[in-house]
Formats: sequence, structure tokens, C-alpha cells
Amino acid sequence: MELSPWLILFSVLVQASVILADTNTQDTSGLIGIADSWKYRPSNWGGDDPCGDKWFGIICIGDRVTSIRLSGTLAGGKPGTLSGDIESLSELQLLDLSQNKNLGGSLPSSIGTLSNLQNLILAGCSFSGEIPQEIGQLSQLIFLYLNSNRFTGPIPSSLGNLSKLYWLDLGENMLTGELPIFDGTNPGLDNLTSTKHFHFGVNQLSGTIPRQIFNSNMKLIHLLLDNNNFSGSIPPTLGLLKTLEVLRFDRNNQLSGPVPTNINNLTKLIELHLENNKLTGPLPDLTEMNSLSFVDMSNNSFNASPASDAPSWFTALPALTSLYLENLQIGGQLPQALFSLPAIQTLRLRGNHFNGTLDIGSDFSTQLQTIDLQDNNITAITVGGTQYNKILILSGNPFCDQGSNNQYCKTTGQPNSGPPPYSTAKNCAGLPPTCLLRQLLSPSCTCAVPYKGTLKFRAPTFSDLGNESYYLLLEKDMTTKLVFYKTPVDSVALYNPSIDVTNSLVISLEVYPSGKVQFVEQDIADIGFLLTNQTYKPPPVFGPYFFISQSYPLANEGFVASKSKKNKLPLIVGVAAGGAVLVAIVLILIVVIARRRKKTNRTEERSQSFASLDMKSTSTSVPQLRGARIFTFAELKKITNNFSEANDIGNGGFGKVYRGTLPTGQLVAVKRSQEGSLQGNLEFRTEIELLSRVHHKNVVSLVGFCLDQGEQMLVYEYIPNGTLKESLTGKSGVRLDWKRRLRVILGAAKGIAYLHELAEPPIVHRDIKSSNVLLDERLNAKVADFGLSKLLGEERGQVTTQVKGTMGYLDPEYYMTQQLTEKSDVYSFGVLLLEVITAKKPLERGRYIVREVHAAMDRSKDLYGLHELLDPLLGASPSSLGGLEHYVDLALRCVEEAGADRPSMGEAVSELERITRLAGGVTESASESMSYASRTPRHPYGGDSASEYSGAGLPSSRVEPK
Ligand SMILES: *[C@@H]1O[C@H](CO)[C@@H](O)[C@H](O)[C@H]1NC(C)=O
Ligand SMILES: *[C@@H]1O[C@H](CO)[C@@H](O)[C@H](O)[C@H]1NC(C)=O
Ligand SMILES: *[C@@H]1O[C@H](CO)[C@@H](O)[C@H](O)[C@H]1NC(C)=O
Ligand SMILES: *[C@@H]1O[C@H](CO)[C@@H](O)[C@H](O)[C@H]1NC(C)=O
Repeated sequence: MELSPWLILFSVLVQASVILADTNTQDTSGLIGIADSWKYRPSNWGGDDPCGDKWFGIICIGDRVTSIRLSGTLAGGKPGTLSGDIESLSELQLLDLSQNKNLGGSLPSSIGTLSNLQNLILAGCSFSGEIPQEIGQLSQLIFLYLNSNRFTGPIPSSLGNLSKLYWLDLGENMLTGELPIFDGTNPGLDNLTSTKHFHFGVNQLSGTIPRQIFNSNMKLIHLLLDNNNFSGSIPPTLGLLKTLEVLRFDRNNQLSGPVPTNINNLTKLIELHLENNKLTGPLPDLTEMNSLSFVDMSNNSFNASPASDAPSWFTALPALTSLYLENLQIGGQLPQALFSLPAIQTLRLRGNHFNGTLDIGSDFSTQLQTIDLQDNNITAITVGGTQYNKILILSGNPFCDQGSNNQYCKTTGQPNSGPPPYSTAKNCAGLPPTCLLRQLLSPSCTCAVPYKGTLKFRAPTFSDLGNESYYLLLEKDMTTKLVFYKTPVDSVALYNPSIDVTNSLVISLEVYPSGKVQFVEQDIADIGFLLTNQTYKPPPVFGPYFFISQSYPLANEGFVASKSKKNKLPLIVGVAAGGAVLVAIVLILIVVIARRRKKTNRTEERSQSFASLDMKSTSTSVPQLRGARIFTFAELKKITNNFSEANDIGNGGFGKVYRGTLPTGQLVAVKRSQEGSLQGNLEFRTEIELLSRVHHKNVVSLVGFCLDQGEQMLVYEYIPNGTLKESLTGKSGVRLDWKRRLRVILGAAKGIAYLHELAEPPIVHRDIKSSNVLLDERLNAKVADFGLSKLLGEERGQVTTQVKGTMGYLDPEYYMTQQLTEKSDVYSFGVLLLEVITAKKPLERGRYIVREVHAAMDRSKDLYGLHELLDPLLGASPSSLGGLEHYVDLALRCVEEAGADRPSMGEAVSELERITRLAGGVTESASESMSYASRTPRHPYGGDSASEYSGAGLPSSRVEPK
């Protein structure tokens, strides 16, 4: 058969486009198809190369699209749907379309073909119809957020196939039907043994809670079935959920029968909500459920128990903040100890038969705000009560019948009943400025357009909504963490906390931009992602939450999709087929040349990002790579035995670390950056450039690096004894007494002082912490991980930069002013000094080491009265801790609020040398030749900012919240 020239021409054209396009064509057409169904495109979605042209919200690995992050950024468009074109994106791992209220319609069943999908985040959209069964085919799924949509129909039984699922949120929809369980053929929710979160509240689910749904293999921590139509009894299998922390069965449900007695097997339970059901039998005995903070069992039909004393477990729950037992026929005398439970805030006990004399006593908890005993049988109250000036309601008791005009008998006019709800203060020194349209006054008194939304806390552990400290804590925590995750956030404002009809705590939120009047598309997508994917975790007292945003007025609203790109090829062929061969050839040439040029430009751009590493380049920005070797991928593959698991010695901020042996016999550690890590590129370059310039015995040295076959790897000297953190926590088996600790910390101080005072230009490390101090075989300290480091330019102390670092070590002045100086490292070093003597994490469960030491310290006492806080492994007697007081003085000077009041690292070194002499130690390490049990270190190089706070910035795919 003779080949038609048209066919040849056509195939040349097709090949040209296949060879020259940078993004997989299937992914490109998939994205264009999706955007067409939105009738709207994000700002820079033009052309046909999403990966190469860095389309907004699109993240690629190689030529494949792996993430789509468009939270809250499509709001400017017309109502749209999610089209079946999504199936083209077969490498997709993360799809975040959350907070786009204008996205609706049904979810296409073809979504089930995305076999690599790990995060599906559609919360806060308007999707409707049934949840497709095909979602059960997403075998890699870890996070599924379908909450706050309009889904109807049943929960698909196929969800039971999602064996890796960690978080399942179906709340706030209109789902009906029963909870699916394994029926012999189809799987069910009982198969989800990796899932920690069942959030099904606020739907119309019905039927009984099947006995089979709970089993002892499950790891649930949150079980939220509230605000549904469940009936029948609570199955005794509930007692098998040993890990459960939050249980909500309340509102609208009609659960009946007795509460299984083995409920007290749930010893981790913090919140128990059984209110507004039809439960019978005896009032559950909650003895030994020692974690309980919030108990609400009001409005049920438990058997009357007119005992002479109130249930004994009332006073046996040490963490209780809130006890709600309204209208339950329970009675007896209320024990005085109930009012002195240390954390108790609210007692709602109205409509019962509590009798006798109410004695609040004089050591009632300072947190106590409300005692509601309306409609009980109380006949008298005794003194003690006179000091109590918070809410106490006794109307409807015999005490008030005696014509008493007592203040507690009035139903209104009680103290504290009327302060306006909390609202973040705006810190304006003088007259606040008048803001333009859409702009509002931020807490730092500037005008800007905030990102607004609502935080809904489904089960807070507190009930005292008037206590400002919770909101101040949340504001500080959110701001710090959002900044830490590299979003340009200046501050957050909270207002109008209240309990809504579903019994959740609702707080309005405004997030203000830093250094600009308005957020851009990327900021909104990032903040939306962090808050919707639960990457941001609020302080534990707030419990599980979700976020719903209002649409943000983006300045660069996208343009309406045009179809021109799709039609290009047929157009060219059509012209050629018209007979104008010449025209066709010219057109081909134009297309080919244009693409070549584009391709060349792009290649240049890419290589430019590493231009500074090009050894032959004469550019002035060439770093001095003295001694650093360049390795090929093949060499490193060989020395690490093909990156075998046996050689895997830890995870770092942006990848894994492997041990290897060079042909010379030298042991090395190879840090391999993870594919697709977002910030990795920049941090990688920073680290090479810095490390190759620094040479000091207390700074980890770089052997070489590899930039081959798309890989980024750093090769370091191997440091065998792990991190200082591992020694302090006992993980590495290296025991450090007081003198050894001094030696280690002095070494670290010398390393940092070298970076500040001798490196040229000076280097601020920015991430000083115990996991970044490594110990060699002689326990010499080596400062590691320069991923976040910053050079100080000519104008010392004037570097304005995005705040980075690790929570707990972060300098508050740097965080407030964003002015980076060496003194920020001094602050972190001060925190490290305290960590070294206490062996406590700097920031843990709201306890901050700096504050603790300040609070406990008494200079008039031996060891400043810090015995309780000191690590017992430091040394037996106070006499063996010579110089400790001077050490604490130094640490506290390092964490002075103002950088100017802190010593320099050089001064810290001299002081530590003096302290070492006081302790009877030697200041030069060469004289020591002890040998220590050398164990394989587990996280020696990366630092663990990733595990603590995903320090590499916005995670590319998954984050595992607790
Ligand atoms: C679900 O669990 C049942 C037993 O509880 C088991 O027989 C079945 O194989 C499981 N199905 C899946 C898909 O895991
Ligand atoms: C759970 O509760 C039951 C009934 O109270 C009890 O017999 C059993 O020993 C408990 N199991 C555990 C592991 O505590
Ligand atoms: C209150 O106590 C009195 C005397 O003990 C008793 O007669 C009465 O029934 C009680 N009322 C309630 C509502 O418990
Ligand atoms: C409270 O009520 C119980 C049950 O009716 C009764 O046994 C007890 O004596 C009463 N206590 C007082 C102080 O009236």
C-alpha cells in the first residue's frame, strides 16, 4: 500500500507534539477538560504544558501531574462540576478542590480509576448526589474529606476496601441509610482497621449501630455519630475501641437500652456525649475513666437513683472540666469535693433530685464558672458559698421557696451572664486608620483584605467560653504555625465564639496577609489546604475541628476557558488537506521551530537554577566547592547497595539518609532528597553552598554531592553516635553525665560561633535544636542541617526574611519583627541549653521550657531550686553539678526577649569554658579518648522538623495528623 503523504504529514505533526511537549499529553488534555467543565481557568492556565509552565496549583513529578491544589481559588468562577476527565490524571496523588462553594453536581464515578490518589479533599464544596461506590477502588487513599457538601444516599460499603484510610470525614451532608458492615460479600466500615477518624455527624443516617461494626483491631480515636437518626441500643463492642478519645452519640438520635457496662474500658476517652437519647438502665459508672474532660449524658431515661449521696465517680475524674447531667432523676447529697476538682468549669445538673445542704467549700476550683442546680431539692447553702461569685442557679429548689430574696434564686442578673463574646484586640497605638472597601483592620493595626471563614470544633474539652486564654492560645498557635508553613500570614483574628445547634464550638476567623494588602491565589490555596487537610493542628484542648471558608476576592480572577488549544491540530491538518502543501510545510516548520525555541529556553532556565554549582562557570556567584566531590548517581547507588533498606539510617527534612562506604573505606551518609519535595531544591542548594565553605571540627563536613539523573543527594562524613536529642531521650544508648553534656554543648557553641563570627559572610543557622547536633565516636558535637540557613549580607542584622525554624526553639523577636540576626540562633541555643539539663522537649502539650524554668527558679536556693525540672540522669548529687547555676544564668540570658540583651555566641563559648572548669571538666576535646558503645543512629542528619511540623513547607502529599 502506498503511504499517503497526508498521513505522513499527520504523523510527523503528532510525533512532533509527542516528543516536544513537556507534560504528558493525557494529563494536559485531562486538565483542560476539567477546566472546561468549570467554565473558568485559574490565572495562568494557558498553553499546553502544565508542568513546564508551572500552572497554578499543579505539581508534577517528571512529566506527570501528581497534585492539584486549588482550595478556595475557583470561587470567582461560574457554577461548575468535576468532569470525568479527572480519570486522565492517572498519576494523581492529591486532589484538593475544597472550599469552592460553586463546585457541585455529582462526583464522577471515574474518580475511582485514580489508583495513586492519597488525599481527596472536597470539603466545603456543593457536591450532591450519591457518593460513588467507585471511591472504594482508591486503594492508596489516606485522607478522605467529603464533609460539608450535599451528598445524599447511603455510605458506600466499598469504603471498607480502603485499607490505608486514616481519616474519613463524611460529616455535614444529607446521607441516609444504615452504617454498612461486612455482610459476607461486601466489605463494610468494620474493615477499616487503619482509620482513626469516623466523622459522620450531622447527617440523616438511621438504623441501629451494628454490633459487628466495632472490633478490637480498630484504631479509632474519634467516633462522631451525633446529629443523626440512629436508634436501638449501644453495642457492647464499643468497649473494644481502646484507643477512643472522643465519642459523640448525641442530638437527634434515639438510642435506647442501657449503656454497656464495659464503657469504662475506654480509659483514653476525653469526651463522652450521650445526651438527648432515650437511654435506660442505671446511670453509667465512669470510675477509672481518668482522661475524661467533658461528660454530657443529659436528657435520657436512666433509672431514678435517689441515693443518699451523689454517684461516687463524680469526684473521681481528675481531668473533668464539664459535667452535664440534666433531667436525669438522680439525687443525693452533692459532695464538696466535686467543686474542688482542679479543672472543673461547668456543672449543669438541673432537673434532678439533689438534696440536703449545698456546700461549695472554700477551696473550690479557680476555674469554676457555672453551677446550675435549678429544679432540685436543695434546702440550704452553707458559707464558703459567700466567696463564690460566679454563676449559681438555685431557683426551683426548696431553698428558694422560703420567700428568699437570695441572689442565687433569681434566674437573671447573675454575674458573668452578659459580657460580649470574645473578639481579638486590634493593637492600635493611636487613632486606627480608616480602611478602604473590603479591607479590615488587622490585629497589628493595618488595613488588609482578610481570608475569612469559620472554625468548627466538634468536641472542645472546655466549656468556659468566657475564658480569653483559650482564644489567645489559638491565635498565637495559628499565627505561628501558618507562618511556619511559609504562608505570608501576619496575624489571625477570632471572634464570636458560640455553641451552635449541632453542639459544636463555632469561632469566626480572619487571616490577615503580611507585607501586602491582599492575598494572592497561591496563599489562599495554601491556607485552605493547611486548614482543610488538618495539617494545621490546633492546641489539644480544642479537639477535632473543620474549617469552612468564605470566598476570597482574588484580584487575579481567572479567565473563561477558550477552546482554541484543543482545535489547533485539526486546523493545521485541515489547511494542509486543502491542497496547500507548501503552506502546510511552512506551518510545520513554524510549529517545530517555535517549540524548539521554547524548549531550549526552558532547558536554559532549568540549568540556570544550578548555574551556581557549575564548576566551569566564571560567574561571580560560584561557590567555593573546596574539597567537595561530585558523585554520579551510579557511584552512590553502588556504595549504598542500591539504597537498600539495611542502609537506611533515617528520615530528614526532605528525604531519606543512607549509610555507604566509599572505595577508600571512608564511611559516609548519603542524604537523598525526596522526589517532588517542594522546597527541597532551594534548601538543597543552600546546604551545598554553605557546607562547602565551612570547615570546623564542630560543624559536620560535606564530602560531596550528586546532581545526576534528576536526583539531588548530599554526601556527608558519617557521624556514628546519632543526635544529641537521641542521647537525651535515651534512644541512642549514649549516656551523658553533666561533664559530658557540658563538653557537647560547648562543642556545639563553638560550631555556631564559627558560623557567626568566622565564616565569611557570616551564616545564621536558623534551625539550632537538639536533633541538629550530632555526636561523633568521641562525643564531639557537630552542628548539622543547613537547610534553612541564611547568609548575612553586607548590612548585618538587616535581613528580612520569611520566618523559618522549629517550634519551641524559634526566637520570638525574629518571629515578631522578621529581622534575622545571629541573636536568633542565640535564642535557640538558649532553649537547647535548657533542654540539655532537663531532657524535656522544649514545647510539649502547651508547656514551654523557658516559661517553666522561669517559673520554678529561685536564685536563693541550691541549684536555683530547679531539682524537680532537672534530668535525673544528669548526676546523683547537687555537689556533682558544679557550675550549674552559672549555666542556668547563661541559658536565661540567651533567651532574653530582646536580641540586644542576649550574649553573642563567642561570649557564650567563653562562659561555657569557665563553667566547664568549675565543673572540673576539660575544655579541649583532644585529650579524651573514651570509647562509647556505638549504635546505629536513626535520624542523624535530617533534623526532625519534618516529623514535628513538616518543616519542608507545605507537604506535597501526605501529612499524618495525630
Ligand atoms: C472485611 O472483614 C471481614 C471479616 O471481618 C473479612 O472476612 C473480609 O475479608 C474483609 N474484607 C476486606 C475487603 O478486607
Ligand atoms: C472490659 O470490660 C469488661 C466488662 O466490664 C471486663 O470484663 C474486661 O475485663 C474489660 N477488659 C479490659 C481489657 O479491660
Ligand atoms: C424533696 O425532698 C423531700 C423530703 O425529703 C421529698 O418529700 C420530696 O419528694 C423531694 N422532692 C423531689 C422532687 O425530689
Ligand atoms: C436525700 O434524698 C435521699 C433519697 O430520697 C434520702 O435518703 C436522704 O436522706 C436525703 N438527704 C437529705 C439530707 O435530705
